Amino acid sequence: MAMIIAIDGPAASGKGTLGRRLAAHFGLPHLDTGLLYRAVAHHLISAGEALDDVAAATAAARALDLQRLDDAALRGRAMGEAASIVAAMPSVREALVALQRAFAGQPGGAVLDGRDIGTVICPGADVKLFVTASAEERARRRWRELVARGEPADQAAILEDIRRRDQRDAERPTAPLAVASDAHRLDTTHLDADGAFAAALGIISSVMASRTKS
Ligand code: CDP
Ligand code: CDP
Repeated sequence: MAMIIAIDGPAASGKGTLGRRLAAHFGLPHLDTGLLYRAVAHHLISAGEALDDVAAATAAARALDLQRLDDAALRGRAMGEAASIVAAMPSVREALVALQRAFAGQPGGAVLDGRDIGTVICPGADVKLFVTASAEERARRRWRELVARGEPADQAAILEDIRRRDQRDAERPTAPLAVASDAHRLDTTHLDADGAFAAALGIISSVMASRTKS
């Protein structure tokens, strides 16, 4: 039976980590949709275009190829901030809808994580998770990642980045970060990645069990 798992949540809540683990567990493909917006921003920056150039951003989004998402160049902190600027453009979002839905529509299903998966991209997903954690805990996670990579980092500046990005994502008029009415909230403030994975598995099995009964 095909199963689509939609995971949404704010920056550094653990969506990507959880998505990867659930995908491996269920043998499903996984798409971190933040990479799409990061790739659009990266394209503009590499081409010397302004980040607020809607026509250039839309053209970059239309030309995006899922097979050619270069992870390493897209992962940095600055690219997350740049991604949230192009992600607020309705024409950029529109250009990326078909590609995400095609990914979700694979025969066995898929796991997608982002900001609008349960609300816009896959409103009919079998299971919707909304992953959260306090802004302070999320900033600590990002800080730990940077330190582990040997990059100097200031926790207060990261917290400020996270708050600014959350606000931009939640307040934009098109596909804002929002909890779908049928999403299951998963607060990971006091959970490590193993704990979040176990809690998500519990939610998924109870949702699927109640489906089978009805
Ligand atoms: O990993 P992190 O949560 O920091 O960021 P990301 O998921 O890679 O997303 C980067 C930015 O892309 C977000 O701040 C959003 O503005 C945007 N995004 C979006 O608008 N919709 C999505 N489905 C995924 C990301
Ligand atoms: O995709 P998103 O930006 O929501 O977060 P992530 O990149 O999956 O996770 C950010 C960092 O938090 C990673 O280093 C994870 O190992 C760590 N973490 C987690 O993913 N889940 C927890 N419950 C606790 C920590």
